[in-house]
Amino acid sequence: MLVTGGAGYIGSHTAKALRTAGYRVVIYDNLSAGHRLAALDNALIVGDIRDLEAVRRAIRQSGATAVLHFAAWLSVADSVRDPVGYYRNNVQGALAVLEAMTHENCKHFVFSSTCAVYGEPIETPLRETHPQRPINAYGQTKLAVEHALPHFERAYDVRFVALRYFNAAGADPEGQLGEDHDPEIHVIPRALAAAANGTPIDIFGDDYPTPDGTCQRDYVHVMDLADAHLRALQRLESGGASAAYNVGTERPSSVLEVIAAVERVTGKKVEQRPAPRRAGDPAVLYASAEKVRTELGWAPQRPDLDDIVGDAWKWHSAHPSGYERQT
Ligand SMILES: NC(=O)c1ccc[n+]([C@@H]2O[C@H](COP(=O)([O-])OP(=O)(O)OC[C@H]3O[C@@H](n4cnc5c(N)ncnc54)[C@H](O)[C@@H]3O)[C@@H](O)[C@H]2O)c1
Repeated sequence: MLVTGGAGYIGSHTAKALRTAGYRVVIYDNLSAGHRLAALDNALIVGDIRDLEAVRRAIRQSGATAVLHFAAWLSVADSVRDPVGYYRNNVQGALAVLEAMTHENCKHFVFSSTCAVYGEPIETPLRETHPQRPINAYGQTKLAVEHALPHFERAYDVRFVALRYFNAAGADPEGQLGEDHDPEIHVIPRALAAAANGTPIDIFGDDYPTPDGTCQRDYVHVMDLADAHLRALQRLESGGASAAYNVGTERPSSVLEVIAAVERVTGKKVEQRPAPRRAGDPAVLYASAEKVRTELGWAPQRPDLDDIVGDAWKWHSAHPSGYERQT
């Protein structure tokens, strides 16, 4: 399996799950946001997904029969500031990977998509049939790739599964892997850092139409996401049709509920600082996972917020400065 972005957060956890399931894994990552240490003992090719010849070589040399494509940039705010960079990396990069696959006769593609492809929800929970109207460049780049996929299937016979993740969270329960983004944009690691350092965390809006006024999101354990990839791959290997699935727990949790979980798990107080709403933050986003449950037999094994936060805390408390400067 070629795992692009496999030195990043979700890719590294999925690479570990693939190995445990008996697959041979080669990671392809330019380390722009990933970590050499997160590759563990998998083969790591340092390269850029936009480099068609290098991706072709990686597929050829590894003998990969499938690509799991995680490599992308993922900050909504940055995508609004730098759409050129986001289209280059996320769209041009994915197209280069797909083109390389067609040249090297590699026919299975698992794509990291996102709930950001839906935009402002008109009804929740979000089903796969919900209209796709992204409200930022990040979501648009992911949707652009989703739109390209059926054409690659028709013309070149590349079958695909697009997994639309909700909020990836938690860490490898064995403590080898965790979440280390710089800057960190996700609420659980930010709240854990606030608890550990005694620094306040910004609460972006407390007047949303939700029970406590803060945004609600669907936090899904990263190992459960990894499991969804295994199932997606097995669907493709057994001849199943291309498909797109939401991957979430179907449970909305508010920012204040996340902070309460962090305080319970760490035993430390999290200082809060009110901040204005961020543009493009819908009040409520959570998945209907009915389709992935029915068609892939997937169900989250660690849906409880305290378990998710507990696994994240285990890694963060052992690696307060992330991978490169671990204690
Ligand atoms: N984290 C989430 O909650 C979330 C939610 C929905 C979708 N996603 C998607 O999942 C994927 C992985 O997310 P993550 O949180 O693990 O991010 P991450 O930043 O930790 O991992 C992405 C990896 O891709 C690599 N990369 C980026 N551009 C590259 C390029 N041009 N060439 C080679 N490698 C490149 C980075 O170095 C990094 O290791 C992304 O595609 C993201 O859009 C993430």
